[in-house]
Amino acid sequence: MKRKIGVIGAGNVGASVAVYLAQANLADVILLDIVEGIPQGKALDLTQAGPVLGYNSRVTGTNSYDDLAGVDLVIMTAGLARKPGMSREDLLNSNATIVGGAAENIARVSPDTFVIVVSNPLDIMTYHFRVKSGFPKNRVVGQAGVLDSIRFRAFIAMELGVAATDTQALVMGGHGDTMVPLPRFSSVGGIPITELLSKEKIDAIVDRTRDGGGEIVRLLKTGSAYYAPAAASVDMARAILNDEKRLLAASALCEGEYGIDNLYIGVPVILGADGVEKIIELKLTDEESAMLKNSAATYKEALAVLGY
Ligand code: NAI
Ligand code: 2OP
Repeated sequence: MKRKIGVIGAGNVGASVAVYLAQANLADVILLDIVEGIPQGKALDLTQAGPVLGYNSRVTGTNSYDDLAGVDLVIMTAGLARKPGMSREDLLNSNATIVGGAAENIARVSPDTFVIVVSNPLDIMTYHFRVKSGFPKNRVVGQAGVLDSIRFRAFIAMELGVAATDTQALVMGGHGDTMVPLPRFSSVGGIPITELLSKEKIDAIVDRTRDGGGEIVRLLKTGSAYYAPAAASVDMARAILNDEKRLLAASALCEGEYGIDNLYIGVPVILGADGVEKIIELKLTDEESAMLKNSAATYKEALAVLGY
C-alpha cells in the first residue's frame, strides 16, 4: 500500500512541501487547511502538473481531519507567518491554538503517525504539539536545524564560489536569533571552513545565517520564506519514511543532553524509521556550550508564557 503524508496548512510552506513530496514520489499527499477550497484547489492544480513533472503521487485536499486517518507522517505547517517587524516569538499565542488543535485531531485520527512540526516559534510549537498529542518524543520532531544549516551552506558556497552540494554545516540551538551556527563543524569537501575563510568572513556568514529568515521577510514584505523550509521538511520526511539514518540538526526533546532538560531545541540527531532515534552529544567548547545554554534559556522563558 502506498504511503500517505498529511500536510497541515496549505499555505506557502505547506503547498511547497506538497510539490516537493509529489516530485519525490515519496507518498500520496493529503493537504489540509482551514480555508475551504484552498487545499482542494491546490491539490487539483498539483495533480494536473504530474504528467509533465513526471509524478504519479495522488494529491488531494481536505478541510477534515478524518481524511488524515492512517497517515504515515504529518508535516505541520499551519499557522501565521512572520511579517516585517515580527519575531517568531510574536506568533506564540496565536499559533499555539492552531498547533494544539491540530495535535489533538491528529492523535484522534492517526495515533501512530510521525510528525514534523514547522509552525513557528518552532521549538515551542514542537514541544506544544508533543504535549497536546501525547505522542512519544521520538515521533515528534521540529524542522529548523536543516533549514538553518542549508542557509549556512548556501552562504558558504556563495562566498567561496563552490558547489553548494559539497558543503556541510551544522547549526544548533533554537530557531531564532539565539541559534548557534558552528563553523568548527562546517566544511567544504571535508576541509573545515576555518581553513578556507578568514574569521571576519566566517563571522559575517554566521550573522547572515542567524538573520536568514529575517532577510527574506524584509524582502518579501508579506510573509516569510517557504522554498527552503519546505525542501528541508521533505528532506526529513524522506529520512524517516526511507529509514535513512541521516545525521541532521533538528529540534528534539532534550532530557539531560547538553545539560538541557525538558526542552525541544536544535541538536544533531539520527533520523530514521523510528523518528528521532538518537541525539548525538558533541563535545562543545565552553563558548559554544554557553551559546547553546543561552538559546535554551530563551525558549524556557517562552514555554512559560504558554504555562509550561
Ligand atoms: P501561510 O500563511 O502561507 O500559510 C499558513 C496556512 O495555515 C494558511 O493557508 C492558513 O489558512 C492555514 N491555517 C491557519 N489556521 C489553520 C488551522 N487551524 N488549521 C489548518 N490550517 C490553518 O504561512 P507559511 O508561509 O506557509 O508559514 C506557515 C508556518 O510555518 C508559519 O508559522 C511560519 O512562521 C512557519 N515557518 C517555519 C519555518 C521553519 O523553518 N520552522 C520556516 C518557514 C515558515
Ligand atoms: C524562516 O526562518 C520564518 O522561520 C522562518 O524563514
